[in-house]
Amino acid sequence: MGKENIIVALDIGTSKITTLIGDIDDTGELHIVGFGEVPSSGIEKGVIVQPAAVSSAIRKSVDAAENVAGSKIGGVIANISGAHLECRNDTEKVEFNTKQKQITVADLNQLMEKVSQKLQPHKDNLEVIHILPQKYILDDEDEVIDPIGLFASKIEGRFHIVLDRLNAFTNLKKVIENAGIKVIDFVANPIASSTAVLYPEEKEMGIVVLDIGAGTTDVAVYKDGSIEYIRSLPVGGNQITMDIAHRFKVSKEEAEKLKIEYGSALAETGTEDVIEVFPRGGDEPIQIEHSELVDTIEARLSEIFEIVKKELNTLGYSSSVQGGVVLTGGVANTPYIKDLAESIFFTDVRIGKPKNYTGFSDKVAYPQYATSVGMLLFAKNKISIPLATTGHNPSGMDIFRSLIEKIKNIF
Ligand SMILES: Nc1ncnc2c1ncn2[C@@H]1O[C@H](COP(=O)(O)OP(=O)(O)OP(=O)(O)O)[C@@H](O)[C@H]1O
Ligand SMILES: [Mg+2]
Repeated sequence: MGKENIIVALDIGTSKITTLIGDIDDTGELHIVGFGEVPSSGIEKGVIVQPAAVSSAIRKSVDAAENVAGSKIGGVIANISGAHLECRNDTEKVEFNTKQKQITVADLNQLMEKVSQKLQPHKDNLEVIHILPQKYILDDEDEVIDPIGLFASKIEGRFHIVLDRLNAFTNLKKVIENAGIKVIDFVANPIASSTAVLYPEEKEMGIVVLDIGAGTTDVAVYKDGSIEYIRSLPVGGNQITMDIAHRFKVSKEEAEKLKIEYGSALAETGTEDVIEVFPRGGDEPIQIEHSELVDTIEARLSEIFEIVKKELNTLGYSSSVQGGVVLTGGVANTPYIKDLAESIFFTDVRIGKPKNYTGFSDKVAYPQYATSVGMLLFAKNKISIPLATTGHNPSGMDIFRSLIEKIKNIF
């Protein structure tokens, strides 16, 4: 594998830590050339609770991917999720001293610089993760996505800003560095997942992406073609497992097995079939009815959807997301989850799987890899935008890295 265009995604989840090594070819296509995965340890709901355990699992995941790819990696792009993430939208303007000026990358950088100066994140104990352009308005009239090369006398930029609580961010960076790994950049989970699963027309129509993992439900709302809102709620599949464990007095491992083997999101699909399980610490098996198991799953999933629905209503997005809802993350594998979501959101729902890549699809073509693949795609898009405008191709890892560093504050 050539080192020129290699990007590495380190997806630190509550149930698994996945490392994907991506190679971008000359035409800009992403090929996954390395895959490593280990069970996660020391993370709960997007919060690091046992730093040493997390570092050790990260090291194992990266080692596994390096072995598969047959090459050592330089640095990683890491994900951020958890209730400590927040977002806001902001606008800035630049007026040129002339009636006509051709807009350049420097003008867009200036807009972003103005937005970033206003933020003063450290005063509020925050760290800026993304400043994502939503759209630009030229001469107070024309809304454009890519204004470079166009003429205007003034330009307004609208941006979506993602921030993380400074201490959560520092802790995450430290556990990765303590594993002996360099972090090149960070991507927030809701941004990564939606990058992997959405089609441009869905963003245009307005859509909600829910990545329901083991510990967090990452929410992303797109409106008029761009990202409008993100949130990472501390709820997920682990709670369903724990509900089953409590109700039937079985171990967490047994509950997880029951959920995967017999689970369904709709109580009405429950049957009178009897399942034999061993209660925690007991030698005698007990019998539970399938319908009771399914009922437990529906109750918790409904609660997660209701929390999201309430939030969308409060924020006033419910009527502006004509494209409906895309469900992804491991929990999206639950049978009938689409039907349950449709009955709660009263809109179209589909299951989102990662797209726009080749390689390792036997492993990653599933909803639980939306974040990992999306991280690679997000990083790829980030470097290809300035390249497209300059017409240069990166050659060598140093140029690749310096580009990432240079544009880190742009996006
Ligand atoms: N077939 C299935 N039916 C029901 N639940 C499933 C199924 N497959 C996976 N899950 C659940 O998906 C969750 C794992 O999803 P995922 O791998 O996306 O989470 P994660 O990335 O480790 O965690 P997070 O992103 O929340 O920190 C677990 O709770 C698991 O039980
Ligand atoms: Mg995840």
